[in-house]
Amino acid sequence: MVRGLRLRTALAGLVVHAPAQSALAPTPPMGWNSWNHFADKVNDADVRAAADAMVASGMRDAGYVYVNVDDTWEGKRDADGNIHPNSKFPDMKALADYVHSKGLKFGIYSSPGPKTCAGYEGSYGHEQQDAETYAAWGVDFLKYDLCGLRQIMGPYEKDPPKASRIMRDSYIKMHDALAKTGRPIVYSICQYGSDAVWEWGAEAGGNLWRTTDDISDSFRSMALIGFSQAGLEKYSGRGHWNDPDMLEIGNGGMSADEYRTQMSLWAILAAPLLAGNDLSKMDETTKSILMNREVIAVDQDSLGQQGYRLGPLQVWVRRLSGGATALAIFNFVTDDVPQPVTVRFNDLGFRGPVHARDLWAHKDLGWLTDSFTAVPPKGGVVMLKLWQ
Ligand code: GLA
Repeated sequence: MVRGLRLRTALAGLVVHAPAQSALAPTPPMGWNSWNHFADKVNDADVRAAADAMVASGMRDAGYVYVNVDDTWEGKRDADGNIHPNSKFPDMKALADYVHSKGLKFGIYSSPGPKTCAGYEGSYGHEQQDAETYAAWGVDFLKYDLCGLRQIMGPYEKDPPKASRIMRDSYIKMHDALAKTGRPIVYSICQYGSDAVWEWGAEAGGNLWRTTDDISDSFRSMALIGFSQAGLEKYSGRGHWNDPDMLEIGNGGMSADEYRTQMSLWAILAAPLLAGNDLSKMDETTKSILMNREVIAVDQDSLGQQGYRLGPLQVWVRRLSGGATALAIFNFVTDDVPQPVTVRFNDLGFRGPVHARDLWAHKDLGWLTDSFTAVPPKGGVVMLKLWQ
């Protein structure tokens, strides 16, 4: 039986997820992607160095698994239509073998269009052939990025349902091609959240789907994306996750407090944790943020339930297994005077005293009654695990 066989029902909302889909990504995928730091400069040596650093830094042992090459690896097709990497990547199979030899998994990138976002060769018209090539190389993860397909959708500009159908079919087509190879390959849908992808991404076979446009390494970009995820929690679950784009932690454009905000918010959102920095050059602060195991445990919680925003302030809550709750109180104000925020335990569904642990201070706060007040630093967060 092929991977990801599911019932594509015409009844909206009635999606039956095959066990294979949740087995591929039972918790949000964790790893690294080349784009945010290396962009079009990435080469074979950078990817090997990332794999080396993932092991040496302890990231692998903290749960990071995927080493993903983003756009600009693609070369030309040969006379039989087989895709080859360009000169930056002399041998993709050898690179995948190297990544695997480190106990890690290997990811790659393509587009349903004739061209990728950076103008390289896409998979249009070669879907099955490319899926087979990826499987032969040992690929474990595919990010499939819309860009060039817009050219094909263009003539239907005045017929949005038709254009949308073309797009969805193109994602289903690659999913089915991957499934046909028989190799388990995590399928990452990237079309920037258009056409409410969260409503059909799982049905199209996605294990994750981007919910927004590209992130950049600024508090404004990260916060706009992260805090706008409120309301999408009902679409996410084991095997199929909302993806608010990759991490910028360690890239230098935000303060440590702001990067702690990204890590905490992404964990509350059950978001994939794909580091986007140069892993071979991480300072201790960056490591302490990316490898905060208590926050990672929230992201990877086995219940697989995405968190939600509580009320108008930036107070976010996520239900965890074993009856525990993660609480994150963010400082989203732009002035320099941090304000106290009080959360009442009643509002989180608790009755009576609650045990609290501070996940950034790594400190037990003991039993608390009634409420908790935090004064998160500018751009920062206070994050607790609560249980009774
Ligand atoms: C798009 C995607 C990015 C990255 C680039 C590569 O912009 O959203 O994440 O993959 O393409 O060209």
